[in-house]
Amino acid sequence: MSQDKPKAYVNTIGCQMNVYDSQILAGLLQNAGYEQTHDPDLADLVLCNTCAIRHKAQEKAYSFLGRFAGTRIKGDRPLTIMAGCVAQKEKEKAFIRLPHLDLVLGTQAFGRFETHLNALAAGETRIVDTGPSENIFEGFPKDAPINPLPGKQVSRFVTIMQGCENFCTYCVVPYVRGKEKSRDPFAIVEEIKGLAASGVREITLLGQNVNSYAGNNGKVCFADLLHLVSRVDGIERIRFATSHPKDLSQDLIQAMKDIGKVCNHLHLPVQSGSDEVLKRMNRKYDRDTYFTRISALRQACPDIALSTDIIVGFPGESVSDFQQTMNLLETVEFDAVFAFSYSARSFTPAAKFSDQLDEQTKRDRLNELLDFQEKITEKKNKAFVGKKVTVLVEGDSPKPRDGFVKKNKNTRQMFGRSDANKIVHFATDKAAIGDLVTLEIINAYPHSLWGEVCESD
Ligand code: SAH
Ligand code: SF4
Ligand code: F3S
Repeated sequence: MSQDKPKAYVNTIGCQMNVYDSQILAGLLQNAGYEQTHDPDLADLVLCNTCAIRHKAQEKAYSFLGRFAGTRIKGDRPLTIMAGCVAQKEKEKAFIRLPHLDLVLGTQAFGRFETHLNALAAGETRIVDTGPSENIFEGFPKDAPINPLPGKQVSRFVTIMQGCENFCTYCVVPYVRGKEKSRDPFAIVEEIKGLAASGVREITLLGQNVNSYAGNNGKVCFADLLHLVSRVDGIERIRFATSHPKDLSQDLIQAMKDIGKVCNHLHLPVQSGSDEVLKRMNRKYDRDTYFTRISALRQACPDIALSTDIIVGFPGESVSDFQQTMNLLETVEFDAVFAFSYSARSFTPAAKFSDQLDEQTKRDRLNELLDFQEKITEKKNKAFVGKKVTVLVEGDSPKPRDGFVKKNKNTRQMFGRSDANKIVHFATDKAAIGDLVTLEIINAYPHSLWGEVCESD
């Protein structure tokens, strides 16, 4: 580490795709001579990779970047960059609240990031690039991403698609991420080979709707891609997100059954249990179709863990619509539910619907749903007690849990994720990050499990 290098701080808000994008931006910053710092106050350059999905996420970006305006008076203000989805959405408007911004870098402008860094170094300021890109993947590294960012090293994300054209009526993504584009399967496999060589054991393939992947001019579908990735030596586990229920094909279900490395977990956002609401959301499936897909999945992969996303308080959601969502949760019994209160977003049709619900109603419904689901999640977790699961060890547990006994001076408490995506904590004096360890589940909590290492391990 050189003392002379300028320091960059990268803050990531938003989804897994943003985490991946931040790795690329951090790699490009490293190429430009920056080293990463964990302290934004020491940084010569501050970049926030932003998310526009809900009002709160957007506000978080504005408030974080706003912190770097004040030091301007002293003349030692860091270069301040807004990147990603809010940048793409706001364009020049970002300067109204953040006049000190030096660069507004849209989601398709990463390939021009280095050029803009050079322009900033030459004294240019207030650059806005939210233009399109011929090849959205051009800013991606040719081999494994350099990724100077801290984070999990055994489990990594790999983006396989950009954009979305589904235009769900509540969602800003199609307006900030552009058209759906599939990345070249060869480039994906090459990147994963590089990651495997550097010690990565688990890959999560990312896209807004991975089921509609159509690589190599439509010749390679998502099920084909899973087969290709599963042949990479060193990769033990494959996950993916997100799947759209309307595109969950029998081919994919079969691939999930056939490929041992594909984890026994599917995230399948349903959004609502009411046909009326699903129609106004433009989700293109109904409640029965969702149930049919879940049955097909459970038939092929009996113990599959399921998770979903729910929006409560969509415009016009009646008490009975909401009850149908609760009923769907009761019927499916998801392992995990990510629930959000509806947030009106610019450009989207639903923001203009006349029957918006008040904030209190939305909050009450969200809390009722979360309380209800917590009991289901706990029940699902309890069903693991007495069973054996294999976890991929990710690191040391952040704090000691019940059940932790220090048997000798080397005993540490570590955690890993099971095939079904459950976090399991355990005590060990042997395991290392990246190991696959078989545990017997002793105890279950709402958000995690406690296991003991099986003797044979
Ligand atoms: N492509 C994925 C999800 C992307 S956004 C899919 O189709 O499922 C992640 C989640 O944010 C969505 O599943 C949805 O539940 C939630 N979300 C999107 N727009 C929202 C909005 N305007 N208000 C509240 N939640 C929203
Ligand atoms: Fe948004 Fe719908 Fe596309 Fe998902 S599928 S990103 S919810 S528009
Ligand atoms: Fe947010 Fe953009 Fe992802 S809006 S959810 S960071 S695609």
